[in-house]
Amino acid sequence: MNLGILVSGRGSNLQAIIDAVRFGKLKDRISLVISDREGVQAIERCKRHAVPYKVIKRRDYASKEDFERAMVSALKAEGVELVVLAGFMRVLTKTFLSAFPMKVINIHPSLIPAFQGLRAQKQAVEYGVLYSGCTVHFVAEEVDNGPVIIQACVPVIPGDTEESLSERILRYEHRILPQAIKWISEGRVKVYGRKVIVEGARYGQLPFNPDLEDF
Ligand code: GAR
Repeated sequence: MNLGILVSGRGSNLQAIIDAVRFGKLKDRISLVISDREGVQAIERCKRHAVPYKVIKRRDYASKEDFERAMVSALKAEGVELVVLAGFMRVLTKTFLSAFPMKVINIHPSLIPAFQGLRAQKQAVEYGVLYSGCTVHFVAEEVDNGPVIIQACVPVIPGDTEESLSERILRYEHRILPQAIKWISEGRVKVYGRKVIVEGARYGQLPFNPDLEDF
């Protein structure tokens, strides 16, 4: 599959995908990375690994629709088949999503529907939950919502801060995101309304559900 990856910052999830491709675990190609911000670490990662990227900034367009249309054109021009939001900090509208129906996935650092939106790990620490985690899901027209592909359950430990919990969850993010891409690429991800089944995957284990196969 031709992958398009949208980023806004550090790009550690992007790096996990780059590495999965580099080391042959993913057979897919990163056709284009789009950053909505200049000078971010994600762009340095693209340069280091000769991954094609473009910076497309919201403020360069008169409307959000124009901004989204510009991203769609850039992705379509590269033949992108699956769009991965890897720390992309904007809510996409119908303008973008209708160009890639059920072909946009997102990684979010909580067990959705808990703690949607910004600073999910801070929300989890402040709420006092004893488990949080991360989710890869298809993107619907709501923030951090849409049919769930895979979740990983991560314990919250007394004394955790936003930073320490974020770091613990991130290690799991870097595994479930490439795994979800691989399953989609293999044509094993079936969507029935809100429910997703990964054909042939093993369900019912902790901390990954379904269980990881390759990462
Ligand atoms: C990750 O923790 C990702 O789950 C989160 O932003 C971080 C990006 O890190 N995404 C969201 O909160 C989406 N609502 P990264 O740039 O190092 O991949």
